[in-house]
Amino acid sequence: MALKIAVLASGSGSNLQSIIDAVERGALDAEISLVLCNRSDAFALERAKKAGIPTATILHAEYENREAFDAAMIERIESAGAELVVLAGFMRILTPLFIQTFAGKIINIHPALLPSFKGAHGIADAVEYGVTLAGCTVHFVDEIMDNGAIIAQAVVPFSSEESVETVQKRVLAFEHRIYPQVLQWIASGRVTQNGRKVTVQETGLPKVTSDGSFIVSPQLEDGF
Ligand code: GAR
Repeated sequence: MALKIAVLASGSGSNLQSIIDAVERGALDAEISLVLCNRSDAFALERAKKAGIPTATILHAEYENREAFDAAMIERIESAGAELVVLAGFMRILTPLFIQTFAGKIINIHPALLPSFKGAHGIADAVEYGVTLAGCTVHFVDEIMDNGAIIAQAVVPFSSEESVETVQKRVLAFEHRIYPQVLQWIASGRVTQNGRKVTVQETGLPKVTSDGSFIVSPQLEDGF
């Protein structure tokens, strides 16, 4: 049976779109039972409506504190019957109440090679710092921001002459591949977590592309 997921987004929702596309082409055995946004102008809402997915807008500004906002989100996610909460550019810090309610069942994508460059500006911070390898990380969410156990990472080399925008674009292209892939691994019951160590059963060793332009670990499978 398809894994029921709730996708939480604050902005453009291009990662949401990659998940919708993977479901539609039959690569991902999931049902998006809810797209929840904390901003009414989030383009993610348009993408969801176009795909016929139920949406909810819960505006954080209308709640007196983080706990009240999170409680409203919990109620909506639970009523959608979601088995997994997928953060896709959701730019709010979650309270322990939220994280404990869905313990082990929340994942996030971050545009940096964690544990480096946590926070809201992963790519800009990496470019500013002067590293030469950017990338993205899919991880379980725990009570510390951008800290949970890592499931998959993509490494994207870049040159110091590239702008933040160019690097961002190249990293985003890998986000759109690894996030649906990780979801499919979870949907097919192949992901196990033991403390900080995550195992994905039956995956290949990380592979460098022939042109050296990226490394993804674990290796992506056909369809991603
Ligand atoms: C993505 O790059 C995602 O990794 C990042 O926000 C962007 C959302 O894009 N998330 C974070 O920085 C979380 N700390 P999208 O709305 O087009 O999917």
